[in-house]
Amino acid sequence: MKTNMSYENIIIRNENSVAIINLDRPKSLNALNSELIDELDRAFDELAVDPEVRVVVITGEKNFAAGADITNMVELSPDEARSFAFTPTFNKIANFPKPVIAAIEGFALGGGMELALCCDIRIAAPGAKMGFPEINLGIFPGAGGTQRLPRLIGASKAKKLIFTGSMVEGEAALELGLVDSLADNPLEEAVKLAGKLAGKAPIALKLAKECINSAGDVDLQTGTKIEAISWSGLFATVDQREGMRAFIEKRKAVFVGK
Ligand code: CAA
Repeated sequence: MKTNMSYENIIIRNENSVAIINLDRPKSLNALNSELIDELDRAFDELAVDPEVRVVVITGEKNFAAGADITNMVELSPDEARSFAFTPTFNKIANFPKPVIAAIEGFALGGGMELALCCDIRIAAPGAKMGFPEINLGIFPGAGGTQRLPRLIGASKAKKLIFTGSMVEGEAALELGLVDSLADNPLEEAVKLAGKLAGKAPIALKLAKECINSAGDVDLQTGTKIEAISWSGLFATVDQREGMRAFIEKRKAVFVGK
């Protein structure tokens, strides 16, 4: 991994083409402040162009993140709140050109859960506590939660979670569709899944993600057109030839991301 930037609020390590980002403000349960978000923003810019990184896992030791840092927000004016908002960075993560997996332990609340919603797949410990408690602070989720949550789990279930501010965990979170699977060691499980994805064709993954992300935004005609253009474009890649030839030659394909 080429990253040579130093970070104070996150730790990044690379294991076999998988970059693992650890949110690292344990004293405040990884509450997200502007510095941490700026570091995440820079990290994702770097990881996007790092050829040695094919998949990213976001996690936090003991806790994922207990939301935006409330101590930073109390006295904000509307203009300041607009600048504090995490939306540009979270949109960047949601549209990141490589798969991103969230491994959730402990609390994932408010902006922390909104960060998890930007990931492509969420794996949680059975006891992880997830929710959107902003309503108890006199606000509502402002980092994509009112948009991504209903797209993921449906409008009325999203309203119930956001209006009540209550937390869910375990089977209830799985049943809601808030997480994709439960694992006693979600990081280990996420890294295992990331390893599998790291062996797939990177351009096909990137374009599949773009198509799937646009599915929630465009009508079916437009969506299938986007799909057709992206899909046919893959036939200009080395990896398409490699994948199909490997099948015919009965060997394992080796994808190079070209
Ligand atoms: N911001 C700032 N500090 C936080 C924090 C947050 N979101 N969450 C926890 N902390 C701090 C606590 O203040 C405490 O610090 P001190 O030791 O200095 O007192 C430390 O982390 C440990 O927390 P607790 O003692 O409260 O731990 P607990 O186990 O008793 O409770 C909790 C855990 C239920 C998560 C509780 O900390 C809590 O309710 N946190 C706030 C959750 C929240 O409201 N998140 C939404 C934030 S708003 C938002 O995210 C807006 C948005 O859409 C972007």
